[in-house]
Amino acid sequence: MRAVMRQWPTGVAVVTTRSATGPHGVTISSLLSVSLEPPTLLVSLSRRSRTHQLIMENRSFTANLLATGQSTLAAHFAGERPVGESEFTGVGWSPSPRSGNAVLAGALAAMDCTVTGTVPAADHTLFLGSVEEVHHLRATGEPLVYAGRAYHRLAGP
Ligand SMILES: Cc1cc2nc3c(=O)[nH]c(=O)nc-3n(C[C@H](O)[C@H](O)[C@H](O)COP(=O)(O)O)c2cc1C
Repeated sequence: MRAVMRQWPTGVAVVTTRSATGPHGVTISSLLSVSLEPPTLLVSLSRRSRTHQLIMENRSFTANLLATGQSTLAAHFAGERPVGESEFTGVGWSPSPRSGNAVLAGALAAMDCTVTGTVPAADHTLFLGSVEEVHHLRATGEPLVYAGRAYHRLAGP
């Protein structure tokens, strides 16, 4: 399954939420637009991830859609950073006025969500989020794409 799904291209997002020590973020590709009426998103998180536990507690997350040129940020929030380095060291962000979750500088857009449902799925949980606020940071930017274990940009039609 891993070998097959490597060939499936996705966008890349950093989901942020709050922790006792400040903002927390994680790189994900499992972002799905579920419905527009009402606006609802889905993200799938491993039960082993720290973010999973925090979102369960906060019932709130913000999905930051990454732009071309933000692959270093994607790797950073997937845990590829020096041991002991604070998560948000050198990362540009501002708190969402509504939730306090981190809105990342340079992202295409960020969607602030309240968790409306959780569905256990194998070793993951599907988090359903009602979109409460949208930050249109870069309406004309290009998305970062992940495929074949590498980051890409769209080559155009
Ligand atoms: C491109 C990419 C997409 C990822 N997508 C997901 C995802 O959808 N769900 C998930 O649980 N982990 C995903 N991961 C793995 C997490 O980023 C990684 O396990 C992270 O270290 C978990 O951090 P945490 O324990 O602080 O939450 C992805 C990693 C990469 C590089």
